[in-house]
Amino acid sequence: MKTIGTLFTLLSLSTNVAAFAPATVSQRSSSALLSTVDDKTEVREYFNTEGFNRWNKIYSESDDVNSVQMDIRTGHGQTIQKILNWIAADGDIAGKTVCDCGCGVGSLAIPLAQMGAKLSASDISDSMANEAARRAKELGIENADFYTSDLESVTGKYDTVTCVDVAIHYPTEKMSEMVTHLCSLADERVIISFAPKTWYYVFLKKVGELFPGPSKTTRAYLHEEEAVRAALTKAGFKVEREEMTATNFYFSRLLEAKRV
Ligand SMILES: C[S@@+](CC[C@H](N)C(=O)[O-])C[C@H]1O[C@@H](n2cnc3c(N)ncnc32)[C@H](O)[C@@H]1O
Repeated sequence: MKTIGTLFTLLSLSTNVAAFAPATVSQRSSSALLSTVDDKTEVREYFNTEGFNRWNKIYSESDDVNSVQMDIRTGHGQTIQKILNWIAADGDIAGKTVCDCGCGVGSLAIPLAQMGAKLSASDISDSMANEAARRAKELGIENADFYTSDLESVTGKYDTVTCVDVAIHYPTEKMSEMVTHLCSLADERVIISFAPKTWYYVFLKKVGELFPGPSKTTRAYLHEEEAVRAALTKAGFKVEREEMTATNFYFSRLLEAKRV
């Protein structure tokens, strides 16, 4: 029943959503390199403009959201809560360094800072990073630094590296490289989420693409879980905890991997 309900909702609302955002650039490069440059440029521009307005509302308590956006807010909130539950259960985050790559408006970084972690959080979008800094300041948080950066340009060493719901903007052929880079920043642990590439989600994505919404959006990529796990293993990490969050419009596989 949920499948039918999801399909009907997808068909009737035909709007832009997290996992099924349709492409807006009709001419696509066959070159992987150029495609990556185009993806990043598109993502940066989107999250500095229309995407910022949309996602800033989704990642807030604003009433000015439609039912799809509300569904995504719920799903995303569940992913964040699952991470916070893991970290609370471990009970040792205070004083540890955390690097949150693609931090958005600080939905994860801010509560982690409130738990006592020393946060270094960045986003490719100025608007998102600035909003995260604004929200943190408003809450009197002083142990978090927010700045603008492509995650591949982030350097340093941190106890924990997090990267939540960013991989959807990464082309398949760049995913392993991205995971390898995140692992190179992490002394102890990497927490990463991505939209999993299963036959069902591939099918729903195709249906969603048949009914593009009116607004500009970015390309969306699903990822093979095995490829993500293989990249983690190759970088010397072992998956120790995992979760899946699925609502009607939000699908996110969450892995926590520790350095072996
Ligand atoms: C769906 S939002 C998730 C935000 C945040 N991680 C969260 O869970 O609340 C995706 C974010 O990833 C950022 N992003 C996309 N590609 C990026 C990249 N290459 N480097 C850094 N940030 C990136 C976007 O600007 C956007 O803020």
